Amino acid sequence: MKNKFFKYQAQTTNNPIGLEILKAEGSYIYDKNNKKYLDFVAGVSASNLGHKNKKIKEAVIDQIEKYWHVMVYGEFIQEPTVKLCELISENLPNSLSNTYLTNSGTEAVEAAMKLAKRVTGRSQFVAAKNGYHGNTQGAMSVMGFEERKRAYRPLIPNINFVEFNNESNISIINNKTAAVILETIQGGAGFIIPKKNYLKKIKNQCDKVGALLILDEIQPGIGRTGKLFAFEHYGIIPDILVYGKGLGGGFPIGALSSSYENMSLFKENPVLGHITTFGGHPVISAAAYANLKETLDSGLMSLVSKKEKLFRKYLKHELIQEVRGKGLMLALILKEKKITSKLVTKSLEKGLILFYLLFETKAVRITPPLTVSDQEIKIGCKIILEVLDEIKNPVH
Ligand SMILES: Cc1ncc(COP(=O)(O)O)c(C=O)c1O
Repeated sequence: MKNKFFKYQAQTTNNPIGLEILKAEGSYIYDKNNKKYLDFVAGVSASNLGHKNKKIKEAVIDQIEKYWHVMVYGEFIQEPTVKLCELISENLPNSLSNTYLTNSGTEAVEAAMKLAKRVTGRSQFVAAKNGYHGNTQGAMSVMGFEERKRAYRPLIPNINFVEFNNESNISIINNKTAAVILETIQGGAGFIIPKKNYLKKIKNQCDKVGALLILDEIQPGIGRTGKLFAFEHYGIIPDILVYGKGLGGGFPIGALSSSYENMSLFKENPVLGHITTFGGHPVISAAAYANLKETLDSGLMSLVSKKEKLFRKYLKHELIQEVRGKGLMLALILKEKKITSKLVTKSLEKGLILFYLLFETKAVRITPPLTVSDQEIKIGCKIILEVLDEIKNPVH
């Protein structure tokens, strides 16, 4: 498999982790030799209920028994899709009661940007330096990291960038701005949480000049910070909310929610304002519904902050500069960037899966399933500390 993996499957780095997967269950992934690894990445903040959750599995099998693909987005009434949109709506403010389901996060960002153009009749966007919103060309245009964009220019023009958390930049948002797009918690930048009232000030400025606020919660959304959506911590409601990852319980999905009036703009002038063949797929929707229902009913979100505290209690080491983030969206910020890959590689050897962040080279992500147990947190942190000790005192 390894040779074929490199020969036939297109790669995005020269050094992929290359773990050959046999199976996965709960907080563990097993390689082809049946060696087990504690998973502190959860498919990059996606498998919130752990691997092979029974309820999600049953929902998928049950739906497959009935039908899978029958029509493009929105034409036929398919119960799992409608039920998912309804459940989402019941858990969001009224102004976000209408939902469009996509295949991925980046596609939801594209749709959100298009919607903002339709609502405001404007085309300029304001985004944040070091912000990440996906890899299609619209989403990449609002990515605040030139090194990864340069090779793909020209991208969408008229994007202005602000420094996240810097209030003195806010006046860039003006009466030409269609929307400000921000991650509620910056992910790739190093799990940077917004300063007190920062998002409120952004929202006020948007309201003042008639711009929309798009919050991208593709990573922090669906319980990862202890609330269903991270914006609930900050006393504001976005005009458009974008999410994905954790919504699908490990199946591919993205979504945007806004008001019924806003979303109605996709229906006319022109008709079919945003279309997709597979968005809102009934099997994926059934999985997402089971996942969301379990996340809401299980009380899991109320335990997130206790689990965060455990991580923070254990993860004290000379080589750790800071543990950043919120809930179970945590990043170890290491003293030096050369430690990062050593920590990830050596932890893997000892049976712990960790991973990097996109732009912050000193960071190692800790985004386990929300179902991770206290005991598993202890075991994983012990491995991290052992590896950091070995890095500090190498045996020659
Ligand atoms: C904040 C944020 N926005 C957008 C995306 C893109 O989502 P997807 O990879 O599903 O297209 C991601 C994925 O990492 C993300 O973290």
